[in-house]
Amino acid sequence: MGKIREENGKFYPPEDFVEQAYVSSREEYEKMWKQSVEDPETFWGEIASELYWYKKWLKVNREDFAKGEIEWFIGGKTNISYNCLDMQIKKGRGDKVAILFQGEPEDDVVKLTYKEMLKLVSKFANVLKKKGVRKGDRVAIYLPMIWQLPVAMLACARIGAIHTIVFGGFSAEALRDRILDAGAKILITANGYWRSGKTVSSKATADTAIDLCAKEGHTVDKVIVVKRLDNFDVPMKAGRDTWFEDEIAASDISDVCAPVWMDAEDPLFILYTSGSTGKPKGVLHTTGGYMVYTYASFKYIFDYKDKDIFFCTADIGWVTGHSYIVYGPLANGATSIVFESVPTYPNPDRFWQIVEKFKVSIFYTAPTAIRALMKEGDQWPAKRDLSSLRLLGSVGEPINPEAWLWYHKHIGGERCPIVDTWWQTETGGILITPLPGAWPTIPGFATLPFFGVKARALQPRSSADQPAVDAPVNEQGELCMERSWPGMMRGVFGEPERFFNTYFVQQPGFYFSGDGAIRNEDGYFRLMGRIDDVVNVSGHRMGTAEVEAALNSYPAVAESAVVGFPHEVKGEDLYAYVILKTGFEPSDQLKKELVAHVRKEIGPIASPGKIQFVPGLPKTRSGKIMRRILRKVASGEIDQLGDTTTLADPSVVDIIVAGRQ
Ligand code: WTA
Repeated sequence: MGKIREENGKFYPPEDFVEQAYVSSREEYEKMWKQSVEDPETFWGEIASELYWYKKWLKVNREDFAKGEIEWFIGGKTNISYNCLDMQIKKGRGDKVAILFQGEPEDDVVKLTYKEMLKLVSKFANVLKKKGVRKGDRVAIYLPMIWQLPVAMLACARIGAIHTIVFGGFSAEALRDRILDAGAKILITANGYWRSGKTVSSKATADTAIDLCAKEGHTVDKVIVVKRLDNFDVPMKAGRDTWFEDEIAASDISDVCAPVWMDAEDPLFILYTSGSTGKPKGVLHTTGGYMVYTYASFKYIFDYKDKDIFFCTADIGWVTGHSYIVYGPLANGATSIVFESVPTYPNPDRFWQIVEKFKVSIFYTAPTAIRALMKEGDQWPAKRDLSSLRLLGSVGEPINPEAWLWYHKHIGGERCPIVDTWWQTETGGILITPLPGAWPTIPGFATLPFFGVKARALQPRSSADQPAVDAPVNEQGELCMERSWPGMMRGVFGEPERFFNTYFVQQPGFYFSGDGAIRNEDGYFRLMGRIDDVVNVSGHRMGTAEVEAALNSYPAVAESAVVGFPHEVKGEDLYAYVILKTGFEPSDQLKKELVAHVRKEIGPIASPGKIQFVPGLPKTRSGKIMRRILRKVASGEIDQLGDTTTLADPSVVDIIVAGRQ
């Protein structure tokens, strides 16, 4: 394969990549993009027609951002599991591997073809039906990265049950909150899983969560447990807990299950994500639009071809795994790898070893993983044959040019285009991204909006009467979308007002993303990170208010404020300022207790990297915490604190600076 040409800091895709790409020039893209936003009826209608509809839609799209109302493929009926499985078999892919599972133990590989997946999914869908699950019911899934996870998701989708997957790293308390909010009566979990040579029990955490739910008056009636680990006993409660393996093997469970034809706007899943308040939001996605958008974005952005082997290293517990391990790849008939373990075990070349072993051609990961592996040295990828790769992707946080260049050279062999894809749980799929054969990329730039996406970097506005104005070229604005796209979230589960108030108020008439962005002379977008109270730790989204709520629930804590600060590998880390109640003394022991408490309340991903005990917080006279100052101190920019004279007690800033961790 040809090499990427570099000119003036721009990296041009190799000619042979361009020749085979779906979109091979910016002009071609501009034409398609223009149609996608000016005539969505035709553009999205044609793409949606590549999928199966039991009943065709009457109208492609209707929306009213002034009310936060969005509909796509109105009146259409379909089923995403039918498109991901049955349709692939009809297209002749029955014996192709759909899910390629690589467990942590090297020899633990399970390859499931489309035919096998359909049987397993149908059986499990019948199990769910036998347990009383019906269309619209919520099913909580607390599973590690094992092949049973996509089976469970697709089984829910087949019968119209709404899945809500909770990332395996969340604590019992966090799981409880999500089960309660979703009102799930059934939970799917595993006895345990492998993590860096050790075993972790999902079931133990699930049991605690269920007990905590009971205290709130909510009963989880049924628990289905995957026997992931052999010889790993977990307590099974009679009448409530059953084994996945026994359930699907039962003699009354058929391997055929007719799909429930879902209205395009019927809910598909809820996925909780952090926001700027203490309570996670249940982001709701619906069937038709999400299906069309993940299908189309996967196809064009990864320039997916039938012979590709696709490896996305995300966890299915996050949106990246939903859209680009399961739904997008399977709707395209791809082979998608599900990897149980971590990049560094047993050695820091595990990803590269998997690429070599399965001849992965498209690899999609997060900057934090790239930075961590870069630190381990170039010898690890050098030892592996990575010549099967033809395209690389990045997601989850801004990628720093140094990591981009290392990825390009040491993983992509200077021949693979890199798609730096910007999106969010809320957006359902990638919104800003290179199309890999169509234009040159610049490290750190996600470049241009995908089809159907009208992205703007707007100047802040204080009222709806002010007109929306784009930030000048190369100056930061608030990243907003002018209209909806098919994969956009449709609401916050159970909290209709919260949807509108979170996303449509900051920039009236627009969807506000919470991110800052600049546009350069070419119109390329560069993402600058969050401008709300959300921090991206190792690509995991964490609301500072959530961490504060966890800290404040500890008996010794009077008040706390949490901000982000730059971290070499994690991108950002959490810095907690803590005021203790009278009678408690600062100590290293207390810091440890606080970290343990946050891990218990939310999970290890929320542990603050630094804790500073402070006598007070910088507050305005009206009592608002000046987070700007706290962020500057945490980042070590103590000479740039700005005006502190409006504080109720400016002297507290000196004490905070002096005690900086
Ligand atoms: C950040 C993950 C810069 C951003 C798919 C966004 C990015 C948040 C990128 C969403 C990128 C994601 N460049 N920043 N390519 N991709 N982000 O909901 O701040 O877990 O708002 O979805 O991640 O995180 P979420």
